[in-house]
Amino acid sequence: MSFENIFNHKHQVKESANARVNLIGEHTDYTGGYVMPTLLSFKNTVELSKNSNQVFEVYSEHYHEKKIFTDLIKSKNNEWVDYVKGCLFVFFDEYKKIKLEHFNIYISSSIPMERGISSSSALCVSTLKALNSYFNTHISEKHIAVLAKKVEHDYIGVSGGIMDQMISSVGIYGKAFFLDCLSLKFELIEFPIDWKFCLIDSEVQRNLRSSSYNERFAELKIAEKELNVEYLGSVKTEDYLPSKFTNPIVAKRAKHVIFENDRVLKAKESILNNDIKKFGNLMNESHQSYSNDFEASTKDVDKIVEKSIECGAFGARLTGGGFGGFTVSLIKKGQFSNWYNKINQIYPSDKIFEV
Ligand code: GLA
Repeated sequence: MSFENIFNHKHQVKESANARVNLIGEHTDYTGGYVMPTLLSFKNTVELSKNSNQVFEVYSEHYHEKKIFTDLIKSKNNEWVDYVKGCLFVFFDEYKKIKLEHFNIYISSSIPMERGISSSSALCVSTLKALNSYFNTHISEKHIAVLAKKVEHDYIGVSGGIMDQMISSVGIYGKAFFLDCLSLKFELIEFPIDWKFCLIDSEVQRNLRSSSYNERFAELKIAEKELNVEYLGSVKTEDYLPSKFTNPIVAKRAKHVIFENDRVLKAKESILNNDIKKFGNLMNESHQSYSNDFEASTKDVDKIVEKSIECGAFGARLTGGGFGGFTVSLIKKGQFSNWYNKINQIYPSDKIFEV
């Protein structure tokens, strides 16, 4: 299928946005801290042209489905097209001087969905970029990220931070994206040439993911209230004391975030110092914390992490919002085939993705 097959004419604009893997810094974005993801080659592409019949027609290659609508009201039953509707809604709401137009939109994606590598942010960022190109609005990449977050937060109604939208809009493939989620200041950092990252799919279905994510979000907001800080990101590791919290669960969740921020800063230093051992250890510590204190891992995921390290990875961890999805491992390029041959005896090739 193609845009032309579906709509019988050529697209006017075409924009893409990549998925990401978070290397370290989990649930630190909406708590005003640091994250360090990197882009993946998987991407979402949006092709768009004017529709002269006063309707929106949106085709998804993944769902083999075309949705036709005339208003931008969210559906009651959470359809995939809501993300596109949300982008249109937020765009026209933000730029009120622009007269509403209708579009034919074709969406294609190579991003595995529901695996914690931000397929929805890539969809929103590429849709907003396509609208920006069509109307020549010169919106900055940073502001596209802010608008994409608005879509997910205000229109779709999911809690979350700004990491995925920022890297998807601003990041550069092949570089680490160190982001201060409060100021939105970022650094693009070159990886040492002999480092290699690899994903392994845990295949854990994430049916409970959004509710568990929202639960953690709420627990961290309680932690901020109890410490009387606006953001946990401002709390230093030496000031962490479990007795400052009324609930031991909330104390554990806060511990993960406070120490995770520190690990992101150290991880950035380890890239700059080409210290693969240190970076790997930080990934491992991050996973332990994510699994034990944040309780966002699963038995299958923990096993992949353990096996990957046994097979020679310097570090491995669950990436993204938690409760299943992809794990990410750090391997030295020279040792990659050795690691791959060993891990491939446990997990099939179609579950292993080179970054
Ligand atoms: C999801 C959210 C991000 C971030 C991560 C956890 O990917 O979209 O904003 O909170 O989970 O680090």
